Amino acid sequence: MKIYSQRLCLEPLQPAHAELLFEGLQSASIYDFIEDVPPKSIESLRDRYMVLADRQSPDGTEIWLNWAVWSFVERCYVGYVQATITVENSAILGYVFFPNFWGKGYAREAVSCMISYLVETYQNLDFCADVNIQNHRSIALLHNLGFVRSTYLQNIESHQDEFKHEVLYRKR
Ligand SMILES: CC(C)(COP(=O)(O)OP(=O)(O)OC[C@H]1O[C@@H](n2cnc3c(N)ncnc32)[C@H](O)[C@@H]1OP(=O)(O)O)[C@@H](O)C(=O)NCCC(=O)NCCS
Repeated sequence: MKIYSQRLCLEPLQPAHAELLFEGLQSASIYDFIEDVPPKSIESLRDRYMVLADRQSPDGTEIWLNWAVWSFVERCYVGYVQATITVENSAILGYVFFPNFWGKGYAREAVSCMISYLVETYQNLDFCADVNIQNHRSIALLHNLGFVRSTYLQNIESHQDEFKHEVLYRKR
């Protein structure tokens, strides 16, 4: 189901979005603070979106929700938002917007719209997001949305001492 806000339409992510988002996802600055890389090809992105279009983890324990974000103002896709709902009822939020469209409030509008939808659709979610401590734009966004800083985490997997995260929890 598509979700609408004042300037945006959140479209459930489908494999067909791969060629529409591919170019925007090439901007290097998107990846300054997230552990991801630009997709290598439209085909590889389509394969990834094929998995995500199932809207659940392969083992069925988590709900994986992703939306491509279309702007009626820009008349193009400006990024995507995502929520992973765990068995503990945490909704772990993620969001990526293309740098050309930063500073226009689209991330705030889209994430806020996603949260409203999730609150209406699921019971008692505990909203949270992992964010790199140097990712000031993302931290500002989270503060604007009512998140407060919670646990400090070190990213064990990457073994990169400089790559540390905070976890910010939104009040229930
Ligand atoms: C994190 C990210 C989504 C933030 O994007 P953003 O555009 O800065 O976020 P917002 O939508 O909250 O926009 C806020 C800015 O828009 C401005 N703005 C303009 N019009 C606005 C409107 N109608 N409503 C609200 N804000 C508006 C605000 O004043 C603010 O400006 P500022 O950046 O000069 O302070 C973006 O930097 C990004 O995609 N980064 C790469 C991926 C990433 O790191 N993801 C997060 C992982 S934790």
